[in-house]
Amino acid sequence: MCGIFGCVLKNGNAAPIIHAALKRLEYRGYDSVGEATFYDGRLYIKKDQGKIDEVHKIHNLDDLPGNLGIGHTRWATHGAPLEVNAHPHVDCSSNIAVVHNGIIENFVELKLELENLGHVFKSKTDTEVIVHLIEENLKADPSSSLADAVLKTVRRLDGSYAIAVISTKQPDKILCARNESPLVIGINENAVYCASDIPAFLPLTNRAVIVEDGELVVLSREGFKISKIADSAVVVREPELIDWAPEMAVKEGYPYFMLKEIHEQPACLRNTLRLQDHYLDLMATFLDRAREVFLVACGSSYHACLAASYIFSKLAFLATYPVIGSEFVEQHGKSVNIESTILAVSQSGETADTLASVSGARERAATVLGLTNAIGSTLTRVSRVYIGQQSGPEIGVAATKTFTSQLSVLAQLALRLAKKRGKISQDEMDFIAEKFDKLPDTVETIIQTQEEKIKRIAKKYKDAKTFFFLGRGVSAATAYEGRLKLMEIAYVPSMAFPAGESKHGPISLVEHGFPVVFICPKDGTHRTLIGNIMEMKARGASIIAVIEEGDEEIKKLAEDYVEVPKGVPEVLSPIPFIVPLQLLAYYIAIERGHNPDTPRNLAKSVTVK
Ligand code: M6R
Repeated sequence: MCGIFGCVLKNGNAAPIIHAALKRLEYRGYDSVGEATFYDGRLYIKKDQGKIDEVHKIHNLDDLPGNLGIGHTRWATHGAPLEVNAHPHVDCSSNIAVVHNGIIENFVELKLELENLGHVFKSKTDTEVIVHLIEENLKADPSSSLADAVLKTVRRLDGSYAIAVISTKQPDKILCARNESPLVIGINENAVYCASDIPAFLPLTNRAVIVEDGELVVLSREGFKISKIADSAVVVREPELIDWAPEMAVKEGYPYFMLKEIHEQPACLRNTLRLQDHYLDLMATFLDRAREVFLVACGSSYHACLAASYIFSKLAFLATYPVIGSEFVEQHGKSVNIESTILAVSQSGETADTLASVSGARERAATVLGLTNAIGSTLTRVSRVYIGQQSGPEIGVAATKTFTSQLSVLAQLALRLAKKRGKISQDEMDFIAEKFDKLPDTVETIIQTQEEKIKRIAKKYKDAKTFFFLGRGVSAATAYEGRLKLMEIAYVPSMAFPAGESKHGPISLVEHGFPVVFICPKDGTHRTLIGNIMEMKARGASIIAVIEEGDEEIKKLAEDYVEVPKGVPEVLSPIPFIVPLQLLAYYIAIERGHNPDTPRNLAKSVTVK
């Protein structure tokens, strides 16, 4: 997730407006920043790594000349957060500049093609292919307009994008296009703006037009023109009046970041399905070679590792050891060695306990692999290979979208490894791959169809003193994560454990009305889990079940249930099954009057041991 902005002003300097708009988009990314403007037929650019304020202090982002320009605030996906990878990116002759939010899936092929045509690339980004492709299209047909060249270009792009392009070819225009990444237009008497999000221009205008997928927009002093990318058909759309307060707008109308981030999960999961094969294959190769594999992480990331240990075992027949970061050195510090591999999972890439495990492992010559949401973080620097999970910044302290994205990446790794090891038939592989592609829609359906019901359940149980969260198999990890969400944001002391453990102690706590949340996918554990539900019911527990749609057997046993669409394979089930539990925790926190974004005593990134 990055933020893009552009403006064409009738009067005045664009640069300070771009700078201020980027500040309002900073929540979308903040590892590097850049602006480009036109003045007197010349392109002016400033960009660097670092947060906007830091870059502004060094380069003064406000003194670029001209009344038209574009800007970008970055959250790295392809290429480290370095000056060379910061946007805007320019073509070979520095006549065209582009800013981009999204992921170009076919950039490797396009880059090769363009390099063969003599284009010289400066960055490691996927974005740079866009600007060279526009240059190539203009070269091939010098009489074509910038709009035609951009149109030809975006028709060749696979993946997600919201772009803004400026060029000396038509220095009075900004060209924008959108597929799967957000893009909005703002308009007032003096200017027209394009941005990733409404807050970017909200202090300047409340008249906005939402650009839809597959649309191209030309911005000029006269206003904006929208057309379809597929057939150039003209689209007429009137601006809407936006009545959000600026603070609300940053959250896209959601009251809290946590709810926004829960709702972003379908989009984030789609992004995880766009990872480069090369890195997944490389990491799978390292895992395959290892004598022993430790999955090391803290908190929610540890729960993702716990789920992954089941998934690696079930799909790739690989035994892995999930270990909590703060325990790794104590537990395995002496035995880990050159033949060990540590896959460290940390959305921030800065968690001290996880990094301490990594240091301990490196001192003993083990191989370190990383999975993180923060390219450029310490974890990416100390890992032999790392994968960026591409969730965009998560602002709510509670991990939600980063957790499901971690699960998606880990499951993809397990699938690769299974294939590499010949542990999975082509049919099974195709089946899981097909279900994987549908997962973002599955999560979307859960949010759309179950949220209201979950609100009612939250109201009903808001005063409960404690909860149990139970699941079997891979769902035990889902249970742990559901419990962590409730505990950390709603402050309800709760317990989670594999459902089979109840009878070894915890069931003694259960009395009439004790709420027990069961995670019940229809997998191999379903029958036994029903037995566990019966045990709880017999002691008066109130059962809240997360079930597969149409699971009549459990519906009859539960006081309350939430449904997940049918047909999700067992190994992928933690992804959809955690979503109702995130929402349940969120709404119980709201019912109890707590701010879920900033739970007491917690920090987003825990950099102390
Ligand atoms: O940045 P990390 O993934 O390394 O963070 C690990 C934990 O601190 C984190 O998952 C924490 O448990 C979550 N905020 C819980 O929602």
